[in-house]
Amino acid sequence: MIIALDGPAASGKGTLARKIAARYDLPHLDTGLLYRATARALIDAGERLDNEARAIAAARGLGLTDFDEASLRGREMGEAASVVAAHPGVRAALLDLQRAFAARPGGAVLDGRDIGTVICPDADVKIFVTASAETRANRRALELKGRGEKVDYAEVLDDIRKRDARDAGRSSAPLVKADDAVLLDTTNLDIDGAFDAAMAIAEKKAARG
Ligand code: DC
Repeated sequence: MIIALDGPAASGKGTLARKIAARYDLPHLDTGLLYRATARALIDAGERLDNEARAIAAARGLGLTDFDEASLRGREMGEAASVVAAHPGVRAALLDLQRAFAARPGGAVLDGRDIGTVICPDADVKIFVTASAETRANRRALELKGRGEKVDYAEVLDDIRKRDARDAGRSSAPLVKADDAVLLDTTNLDIDGAFDAAMAIAEKKAARG
């Protein structure tokens, strides 16, 4: 079974994807890490984020074990990832890796922006997770604070809005709900409530075959 979760920054899709993967005992790929690691490699090499040729080379050099999550999860790297993710060549360079992951025997859970539309258009279950920008900014601010980052809520909200506009406005694989994805709005749900709702969607789809 392939389960695709897409949605904007801090919508809760990553947490949901991890929990769903654990429930079904499936491998999970957070595809945002691929773009974050590409951005990190460029920055570490002193390259500009708008250098598409270098960004493609960095993306091609990635393996699924290259992730030092602590150095990739911060606010700065989320922004940088959103910039490199707009290069069509970077997206193309990361396509096979993601599809190979999804094709593992037994299936997989992938979360990102274009899983249901581009990476796995035939996924068995597609969920588009969203929440209001204010709710997402609150969650992101709490998460960053928990990691010891200095947080200004207004700045986090501004970041979220900018990132939404960039991810949804790019020409290559923009953030958009697949026609056959089920919308899950987590604005008024806690983690357990969102998980129950996501599992209900998955079970219904799985039962239909
Ligand atoms: O999910 P995240 O915040 O870790 O993602 C970081 C950025 O990477 C996001 O702003 C856009 C990009 N991204 C993407 O374009 N496609 C994906 N499948 C996953 C992430």
